[in-house]
Amino acid sequence: MTEKEQKYALVAKQAAALIDINAGDIANYANICALLHGEFGFWWTGVYLVKGDYLELGPFQGPVACTRIPFGKGVCGTAWKENRSVVVPDVDEFPGHIACSSESRSEIVVPLRKGGIITGVLDIDSKNYAAFDEIDAAWLERICGLFDRD
Ligand code: SME
Repeated sequence: MTEKEQKYALVAKQAAALIDINAGDIANYANICALLHGEFGFWWTGVYLVKGDYLELGPFQGPVACTRIPFGKGVCGTAWKENRSVVVPDVDEFPGHIACSSESRSEIVVPLRKGGIITGVLDIDSKNYAAFDEIDAAWLERICGLFDRD
């Protein structure tokens, strides 16, 4: 296992222990965002939640962000529409990328699901190019999968 994988293995364990099944999703999303943001030092870590035809900003850590993202738009809307994780090594190369922060260089978006249906996305931004790869996607999918219940 690489150093990054070891870190994710530990963080995934912490995430599982942190989720309070008696609390609502917003409370749990908030803590998971804080955990990931603090452990990995990302630039922005947050969730967007499905509200009709839009994604609406949920709990996050980092600078202020756009509040609504239409279906199929930006990296988040694309992940929602295509029902898959999206890894973007250079945000300037992604057609339709929504720049909430001009300092963001790369991004990863991972679906959050309930009973297999997308209910939101986890969005993480980095100030570095190519900060995310398939290892991040696999582990973040595992962490997001902790919410696929009820
Ligand atoms: N860049 C995202 C928008 C959300 S911010 O990064 C926090 C996108 O293109 O969907």
